Amino acid sequence: MTLPLPSYFTDFLNDIRPTPAQRADMIDGHTRLRERLESDTQLKTGFVSMFLQGSYRRHTAVRPKDGKRADVDLIVVTRMKESEFTPTEAMACFKPFLEKHYKGKYRQQGRSFGIEMSTVEMDLVITAAPSESEAGVYSSLSESEDDLHLDEDETQPLVKTALDGLPQWKTEPLRIPDRDLGRWQDTHPLVQLSWTNQKNARCSGHYVNVVKALKWWRLVHASELPDRPKSYPLEHLIGDCCPDGISSVAEGVVRTLEQFSQRYAFYAACNQVPYSPDRGVDQNVLARIDGKDFAKFHAQVVAASKTARNAFEAPDAQTAAPLWRELFGDKFPQAPDGGPSSKKDGFTPHQGGPGVVGPGRFA
Ligand SMILES: Nc1ncnc2c1ncn2[C@@H]1O[C@H](COP(=O)(O)OP(=O)(O)OP(=O)(O)O)[C@@H](O)[C@H]1O
Ligand SMILES: [Mg+2]
Repeated sequence: MTLPLPSYFTDFLNDIRPTPAQRADMIDGHTRLRERLESDTQLKTGFVSMFLQGSYRRHTAVRPKDGKRADVDLIVVTRMKESEFTPTEAMACFKPFLEKHYKGKYRQQGRSFGIEMSTVEMDLVITAAPSESEAGVYSSLSESEDDLHLDEDETQPLVKTALDGLPQWKTEPLRIPDRDLGRWQDTHPLVQLSWTNQKNARCSGHYVNVVKALKWWRLVHASELPDRPKSYPLEHLIGDCCPDGISSVAEGVVRTLEQFSQRYAFYAACNQVPYSPDRGVDQNVLARIDGKDFAKFHAQVVAASKTARNAFEAPDAQTAAPLWRELFGDKFPQAPDGGPSSKKDGFTPHQGGPGVVGPGRFA
């Protein structure tokens, strides 16, 4: 018999999601940035739109550990033609604006500008001009209230994107500058978002929570794991491995880890990294991962998959919760004392308190 402990997972997910303060900071920061871009006399004629991308937008962000700032990714679509601007020149156009409004708070990175807010960091990626018809799609995105719909409640359906309902041919990838490589590169954040929405629907809304749980597992076990894969490449691997049709987060975690273990065993044995094309763009998402790191990561996934399977098949909460806590640390609620005899409807009620679930929440 499996014990999915749904309310334990609900509490766990509540505790690893970005905090209300981070969400408020983010909405404030991104709203103000948009207003400033739209009214900047030098930039406004070249400005098409700005929209949220990244894990925040896809509902796959987790709260950063150890007091780090949450990262919020934003795309600024411009009218700059890549035939007229090198990546360095394109990014330089934004410097006077950043100096004026964010002096001392921003820094230039390889493909983006990081802007520090009190609890979050905005990561601003500038893109070259899409064709005129595409510009229409992107400028309508800017008006959308979707941008303000953040990761507030895992039970809410994911936001629809401008891509949903549009034939695929209507949107082409955007081009982003890679300053380090000195060239423009394809990216298609809307297809990544749309893919995630569809995958989530095929997983009855559990997919994004499986991603969050496993990103949290990586953070908890960071000292035993290589630095990569993490962030989007990790999410992408989870997307490749998570089976459709899962009926709980717990099931998704177990089956994703098991699928990862089986699917990549051969690669890990050869210290090789699989090729996995991005959603909407034929570029290897895993290109920056080292073969030995991939093998180390795989070995830890194999071990985690066994713990997760034992937790999933445990006969009662007292057996299951410590195993889940091995994987997810102390954000996962403890089971109450009392052993299997205290079970109620297959789940064990608890007294509440830090790190534990409250009473009456074992539906
Ligand atoms: N290797 C990659 N291949 C394709 N797209 C990528 C890759 N790395 C980053 N991206 C895109 O850039 C976005 C922002 O990157 P970032 O490193 O912030 O990851 P993230 O998914 O937002 O995760 P995190 O929660 O760690 O911030 C990603 O969500 C993804 O859309
Ligand atoms: Mg991010």
